[in-house]
Amino acid sequence: MEQKIEQLKRDAAEAIKKTVADLDALNDIRVKYLGKKGELTSILRGMSKLSKEERPRIGQIVNEARSKIEALIVEKNEELKEEALAQRLKNEKIDVTLPGRQVPLGHLHPLTITLNRIKNIFMDLGFTIAEGPEIERDYFNFEALNLPKDHPARDMQDSFYITEDILMRTQTSPVQARTMQSHEPDSPIRIIAPGRVYRRDDYDATHSPMFTQVEGLVIDKGISLADLKGTLELVLHQIFNKDVGVRFRPSFFPFTEPSAEVDISCVMCHGQGCRVCKGTGWLEILGAGMVHPHVLEMSGYNPEKVSGFAFGMGVERIAMLCYGVDDLRLFYDNDMRFLRQF
Ligand code: DAH
Repeated sequence: MEQKIEQLKRDAAEAIKKTVADLDALNDIRVKYLGKKGELTSILRGMSKLSKEERPRIGQIVNEARSKIEALIVEKNEELKEEALAQRLKNEKIDVTLPGRQVPLGHLHPLTITLNRIKNIFMDLGFTIAEGPEIERDYFNFEALNLPKDHPARDMQDSFYITEDILMRTQTSPVQARTMQSHEPDSPIRIIAPGRVYRRDDYDATHSPMFTQVEGLVIDKGISLADLKGTLELVLHQIFNKDVGVRFRPSFFPFTEPSAEVDISCVMCHGQGCRVCKGTGWLEILGAGMVHPHVLEMSGYNPEKVSGFAFGMGVERIAMLCYGVDDLRLFYDNDMRFLRQF
């Protein structure tokens, strides 16, 4: 009996020693020798068959063997854990000399770049920036701009209506009435109002149901068409270049009188006539005019005391001409191959 226990102890020690890098195998050994159905346990179970004198002695030997094996297992367990840790540290070593992962750096969208340029030019001239809501009341979008409900000019701006009285604004011009109404009557105004506008247009190379405008409004005592002309000429020379030709053509807008459409000489052919300017040598770039007396009146300003000019330009159009982009949709496609070029 004693020999058998001694043998078991040696076998266990041997098995423990041989276990390398495997905590599961170590556990199997624990079960084999010390578990409920383990070999030492079965000896303890068989003790009832021993004589009274032998029992305590054998019991003691078994217990000693047990603790010995247990101690060996604990020791091995520590050893294996340490080895595993050392291995992990070795594998997971960070090479700080490797080049880092590049964080791709974005940049401003070409329309934002263009809009910022336009804003800066006007701010240098003393304009401030006004904003209005993109979801607008029919009153501000049309009515207060001299476009009553049945006005035929409304048809030119087919609109997204939300209710009878609320729509996606079709132009930035409603900011004119909003600004006047938030000012002391007849007090001077010099603002631009950039922002998105919406029309039920097709989506093709030159149209989009959503686009960007910059509105302008100047009101003061004695503002004349000469101020309008001088301001817009200066601005267009800065946006394009100082050699660009600027032309005013008579036109009609319900909120201005007189009204003009402003052209620049074609940036592609410099006035010679080409595909882009359809052979005319000119490109239409914005609408403008002297603020209609009725528009001033409706927003509480007295046309006998003050006068003003207003204008509206499309940012996409300007960006296309500045960068030589021939399809407006490229601005909205978010194709990195296009955007990376700016
Ligand atoms: N709101 C006009 C449009 O969307 C552009 C415009 C024309 C604005 C003349 C003005 C203006 O302020 O005076 O087509």
